[in-house]
Amino acid sequence: MRLLLCGDIVGRSGREVVIAHMPRLRRELALDFVIANGENAAHGFGITDKICEELYAAGVDVITTGNHVWDKREIIPYIDGDPRLLRPINFPPGTPGKGHGVFALGDGRELLVVNAMARLFMDAIDDPFAGVDRLLTEHPLGAIDAILVDFHGEATSEKMSMGHFCDGRVSAVIGTHSHVPTADAQILPRGTAYMTDAGMCGDYDSVIGIQKEIAVARFVRKMPGERLQVAEGEATLCAAFVDTDDATGLARRIAPLRLGGRLQRAWPLGETAAATLP
Ligand SMILES: [Fe+2]
Ligand SMILES: [Fe+2]
Repeated sequence: MRLLLCGDIVGRSGREVVIAHMPRLRRELALDFVIANGENAAHGFGITDKICEELYAAGVDVITTGNHVWDKREIIPYIDGDPRLLRPINFPPGTPGKGHGVFALGDGRELLVVNAMARLFMDAIDDPFAGVDRLLTEHPLGAIDAILVDFHGEATSEKMSMGHFCDGRVSAVIGTHSHVPTADAQILPRGTAYMTDAGMCGDYDSVIGIQKEIAVARFVRKMPGERLQVAEGEATLCAAFVDTDDATGLARRIAPLRLGGRLQRAWPLGETAAATLP
């Protein structure tokens, strides 16, 4: 199964780069399923129902989130009616929405998408390891064709630990939240594809997607300063491409994808195919 996880979509330019490239990416990479983290899609903070619809229309199948999920409060009454929009699984019981979903492909294969959130340097929420473990007991690989975990977190150590914790039990563990792509994409010893962070879909002439002058001034002056504004220059689409073995559900391949904007381009399939892309 060919999967793509796009890292945190930040603001308008992030949405635009995903929407512009997605139809061709689906075709050129023969993608079966696309997941995108949308927690910063609405001007850097949260997501709206309208943005969800735009991303689905462009070819995104499921939207994951993280600590910014409720920044646009209008999403709170919406989320229970949209099974394709996930919030972290380890938010306390009673929180609206769901942290996972089983999705059927057109050909009958099934994919479990899990959205979990780390705790180190983040909100004090329920244990993500226990939450993921419970879910994997309920939905073991084998009963389901592929499992992808979006682990939304700050600390690389906690994210790597989740990768090893899930190794051999899921198809892929891919990190989000840091807004910076890591160079450690690999298949772990028991067959799970892993990458600490997919990076953001956003403007990299910024501080993690925020206008650099405002963000830098906060550090320099130790004052609250101006309200944070999202950087809207040309965006780079950052994602992780994963190919899984349908017989085992484990990974055959993981590779970073980076297109457009300031970051060096990375194409998962060799440059011949890339030559046809803008
Ligand atoms: Fe984010
Ligand atoms: Fe986040």
